[in-house]
Amino acid sequence: MGREFLDIFESWAESYDHSVSGKDEQYREVFRNYEAILEEVAVLSHGDVLEFGAGTGNLTEKLLEKGHKVTAIEPSKAMKKLFQKKMMAKSNVTIMDGDFLEFPVPNKVDTIVSTYAFHHLTDEEKAKAISIYRELLKTGGKVVFADTMFPSKADHKQAIEKAKAAHYDDLAHDLQTEYYTTIPYLQNIMTANDFQVKFKQWNDFVWIMEAVKQ
Ligand SMILES: C[S@@+](CC[C@H](N)C(=O)[O-])C[C@H]1O[C@@H](n2cnc3c(N)ncnc32)[C@H](O)[C@@H]1O
Repeated sequence: MGREFLDIFESWAESYDHSVSGKDEQYREVFRNYEAILEEVAVLSHGDVLEFGAGTGNLTEKLLEKGHKVTAIEPSKAMKKLFQKKMMAKSNVTIMDGDFLEFPVPNKVDTIVSTYAFHHLTDEEKAKAISIYRELLKTGGKVVFADTMFPSKADHKQAIEKAKAAHYDDLAHDLQTEYYTTIPYLQNIMTANDFQVKFKQWNDFVWIMEAVKQ
């Protein structure tokens, strides 16, 4: 579920790694510190990891380097193909078709991670996903998500106006049509599901949410 943006990735897949390298001007700020953000998510992870929206496998590679066993979930066929190419001959990694809400349930895991993807779920779907993850995690287990989020709805609105003023039409369109949420909303759903949560900002758009199951 939450698969309504998949067409974007079928056509973006081939040039996705070019975009994250900062060569696409409209998205330069969104992807500023991309490598460091992914590295931090990998550093904050422990044990067996379940990854959602793995894309071309950039975070997966960092998780494997740290010795984690990774089960990756990805709904886009085009992304999955690139992922498989990148992971060829690597062990400790499995990719499966699925999405944030419907996925082959693995055994309990230690960490659930995702980068640049949770905004594909509506706020209501995000709350549902977190209640599912709570049951999948061992005590002391973590959810570590990096994504665009805003301190308030006013900040979200301001980001849209700024993108429009810079004539970043694609970015402005994304900010208006995808389900970017606020930190207070995420804080509420995490604490309602017995997580202790903190947030750290990495660029004008992206924050890392680190939540520990109590
Ligand atoms: C912007 S890319 C991020 C890829 C990778 N995590 C990274 O940080 O580079 C978003 C990914 O989320 C996937 N995606 C889209 N809708 C999804 C959903 N409902 N559940 C899980 N993944 C989804 C897309 O296919 C795409 O691979």
